[in-house]
Amino acid sequence: MFEFFKKYKKAEPIFEALVTDMHNHLVPMVDDGSRSMTESLQCIRTMQDLGYKRMYITPHFQFPRFPNNEEDIKRRFEEVKEAAKNEGLEIELIAAGGEYRIDDSFEKRIDDPHFLLINDRYVLVELSLHQPRMGMEEVIFNLQMKGFEVILAHPERYPYLNIHSKTAEHLREQGVLFQLNVLSLDGFYGEAAEHKAQEYLKAGWADMLGTDLHNTKYAGALIEASKSCKVRKILEKYQFLNTEL
Ligand SMILES: [Fe+2]
Repeated sequence: MFEFFKKYKKAEPIFEALVTDMHNHLVPMVDDGSRSMTESLQCIRTMQDLGYKRMYITPHFQFPRFPNNEEDIKRRFEEVKEAAKNEGLEIELIAAGGEYRIDDSFEKRIDDPHFLLINDRYVLVELSLHQPRMGMEEVIFNLQMKGFEVILAHPERYPYLNIHSKTAEHLREQGVLFQLNVLSLDGFYGEAAEHKAQEYLKAGWADMLGTDLHNTKYAGALIEASKSCKVRKILEKYQFLNTEL
């Protein structure tokens, strides 16, 4: 783990224009993200070095794989916040959010929602990486009818979704915001995701950027991305709603 940071040395604060990260997995041991408080603090320090001023932490809520509940996550988030403060980190840990997989369990919870929100009104949702979910648009509509706004995490990563697909078009018509992963811009998830991210950007369908930072491997990749001309140009050319969160 420490080898990684020795290798990548100093980060440059190129993400300061975004101000806020709204998607990462840095509450330790609650999902497939950080494995320890030490790892979380290293990742948070990297984000601070890269220019982020504020962040939400958004653990997976996906049943039965990650059976998290909101009260527990809020408590665990406060522990991270306290540890970051004791470590002297200045980045503001705003609140615990969640990355909610649209599955049967999620659908049931819309009737009596206790979702962890971003900026008090956004629910961050994700889809299966393998297959589209039937009735997904209706689920999102029901969520909107409850007064929530919806952010779809990393639309560039779903093989069945792209700028030309009816589903993506419907989601945009429904007012769903799209959040691209920063690392997609630098090819971390492969060429297809990078290409689709470019298409969403050009179409004006990229509302937010998230790190989706899971661990120190991602932190190293984020430092690498901070040196990429492609990423710099995108940050200069496009505006993102991160600054309003
Ligand atoms: Fe995520």
